[in-house]
Amino acid sequence: MNSYNIAVIGGDGTGPEVVREAVKVLDASAARFGFKLNYVPYDFGGERYLRTHEVLPESAVEELRKFPVILLGAIGHPDVKPGILEKGILLRLRFELEQYINLRPVKLYDERFCPLKDKRPEHVDFVVVRENNEGLYAGAGGTLFKGTSNEVAVQESINTRRGVERCLRYAFEYTRQRARAKKLTLCGKTNVLTFAFDLWERAFHEIGQKDYSDVQRDYAHVDATTMWFVKNPEWFDVIVTDNMFGDIITDLGAMIQGGMGIAAGGNINPQGTSMFEPIGGSAPKYTGKGVINPLAAICAGQMLLDYLGEKPAAQAVESAVIKLVREKIQSLAAGRMGFSTSEIGDMVAAAI
Ligand code: IPM
Ligand code: MN
Repeated sequence: MNSYNIAVIGGDGTGPEVVREAVKVLDASAARFGFKLNYVPYDFGGERYLRTHEVLPESAVEELRKFPVILLGAIGHPDVKPGILEKGILLRLRFELEQYINLRPVKLYDERFCPLKDKRPEHVDFVVVRENNEGLYAGAGGTLFKGTSNEVAVQESINTRRGVERCLRYAFEYTRQRARAKKLTLCGKTNVLTFAFDLWERAFHEIGQKDYSDVQRDYAHVDATTMWFVKNPEWFDVIVTDNMFGDIITDLGAMIQGGMGIAAGGNINPQGTSMFEPIGGSAPKYTGKGVINPLAAICAGQMLLDYLGEKPAAQAVESAVIKLVREKIQSLAAGRMGFSTSEIGDMVAAAI
């Protein structure tokens, strides 16, 4: 029997509540499809930081490196200055574990949850491959004369040929295996960011031409991409983009698939430890009320199963989520689902 170790970081706010439901569903799928999951909990997050003044213990990254996968709830605490936990935990893990892909499927399961007029599930079904280790997130830059009227702030976007190329190759490979329209759209800003996206564009066409001639290559500026998300989301199959643009367009993507209640993502190192998370925040105002929607965390669990190679189990989770979303749930928004957080988890688990 296959057996997998999973590091579980519930994190802040509603994170632990939604992760509990994801684990419930993972357990149901393990029982049904005959594999074993061993969970190891970690208490990283705002509470621990406030208690210990340490964001991550010294040993954390090396310990997490031993796991094939991490399931993460949410990071972000109202009493901790913005940036400390995000950079100290989430970004640090993404970088040090070399999770160079941020994979974000944008898939509408029921037209009732789409804010766009006349768009149905067949119109909203694409995947964003976001570069996850470089760009504006790399932390390059600095400040001069801070706090004076001469203050200078520089924040640079780092784009390496190696980093861009491995991201593009992953995206081409993913597009090929997804086997839908087999169209990969590079989302950039070649008309203004003429250094960074020149590199991206050249690498995109070189690699595409040489190794992926079966994949159609397309390009859209990032501003136009947001326009098409709203007007013609059906044009997209797979989109590849840099870290910052990927961050922005995937929030819009989450909205057109029904909101943060359903949107999940994977931070992927194809050769190492990958980390799966609902992409919404810690939603502190809903903490402990049992009203937050756990479907995004459950969908993160589905991506985790898929990554581990447990494809039928992943498929079963998705089918159970689709059935629930289409037949039972009233809204994907916290407090308006018609069910509690744990009832949603129970129903998905039961359907598996
Ligand atoms: C995301 C989040 C993070 C990001 C924040 C919390 C650092 O917005 O996962 O999209 O900007 O990547
Ligand atoms: Mn974001």
